[in-house]
Amino acid sequence: MQNFDYYNPTRIVFGRDTIGRLAELVPAGARVLVLYGGSSAEKTGTLAQVREALAGHVVQEFGGIEPNPHFETLMRAVDLIKTQQLDFLLAVGGGSVIDGSKFVAAAALFEGDALDILKQRGGNIRQALPLGTVLTLAATGSEMNSGGVVTHAATHAKLPFRNPLLFPRFSILDPQKTFTVPERQVANGVVDAFVHVAEQYLTVPGQALAQDRFAEGLLQSLIELGPQVQANPLDYEVRANLMWVATLALNGIVGAGVTHDWSTHMIGHELTALFEIDHARTLALVLPASLSLRRDSKRAKLLQYAERVWQLHEGPEAQRIEQAIALTRDFFERMGLPTRLSDYGLGEEAIEQVVSQLQAHGMTRLGEGGHVTPDLARQILQAARV
Ligand code: NZQ
Ligand code: ZN
Repeated sequence: MQNFDYYNPTRIVFGRDTIGRLAELVPAGARVLVLYGGSSAEKTGTLAQVREALAGHVVQEFGGIEPNPHFETLMRAVDLIKTQQLDFLLAVGGGSVIDGSKFVAAAALFEGDALDILKQRGGNIRQALPLGTVLTLAATGSEMNSGGVVTHAATHAKLPFRNPLLFPRFSILDPQKTFTVPERQVANGVVDAFVHVAEQYLTVPGQALAQDRFAEGLLQSLIELGPQVQANPLDYEVRANLMWVATLALNGIVGAGVTHDWSTHMIGHELTALFEIDHARTLALVLPASLSLRRDSKRAKLLQYAERVWQLHEGPEAQRIEQAIALTRDFFERMGLPTRLSDYGLGEEAIEQVVSQLQAHGMTRLGEGGHVTPDLARQILQAARV
């Protein structure tokens, strides 16, 4: 195991009817900005519950944070914070609202051009406003980690940032809040969480026993929960398990002391920024093709994955690896996520655009070992074509 520094200060308040706890979780005397997305938080009654719980606080609201949140939108929230002298942020929504709020928390106190936060991936953040969250969609893990992804719309750049100052102080996870999530977004969440684990697990073997077994347990849970949530969308236990699994998939535990990949996410971000494909859908396009092309460098871990996650114990090694990759693709497809670029009408020209954006963003040595060069990214996307 490599040396690691595991730090996670986020308090999780989990379960039915927990939004009322905001009254005690948000510090007395705080001047609060509630941030939310489009219309869902209002329609589902979540905002009304938040307003009621915060009746004793000074509260302003900022709505309209779009999926794959835009820098340009978020800077308007920063202006509101400055003019109204607000000092506590409450994000109400999914990954986009939470990520966007993390960016706002840092940008509100940043000296200089806030775009530099993205350019330096958050390494230049020196202070941030405190942030709490009310999660409404199980997917990203943003509710219990210190990272985010924000799009600079003007340049079609979707860039990740992270800083320990951006961990939420608390996150409220009421699984009932996810009953209203559209089927497509539910499926996206299952696949996003799956790929988060894969990016921290499918690298090299023999690094950490607990993290490996934990990762395998999370992957198996997602394979089990995906069809269940599709068949029984109003089953509380299924939603509760899915919500907690998605949080655990990216709260640092699985990734502590082990090698990471993340090339699927970085290639995926370019696909979203250029062609507005949902985040998880880009991952479903890239991962199977990437595993297939990198089967030699990932050989030992792919065999472990085949054996422990998909119970493939028989036959030649190459065949087991092939089957494990096919089953992964099949799982994404069964969840309703296409795995071929042609499903989006994209071909050679799109691939070249992605490759040149990766180059422009300095994403030229991705993955464990830095093997994923722009040329390999091109081959991966070509393999994902049809
Ligand atoms: O905008 P509204 O009207 O609220 O609708 C949202 C949005 O259209 C809707 N929704 C959310 N909760 C709902 C609901 N609809 C009905 N009922 C509810 N309870 O769902 C749509 C998608 O929301 P979004 O927040 O975009 O989805 P998700 O949670 O999948 O977040 C995706 C974003 O997170 C980033 C992605 O890149 C993407 O920008 N990620 C963040 C990560 C992190 N911080 O660690 C890691 C991930 O890799 C991911 O990259
Ligand atoms: Zn993701």
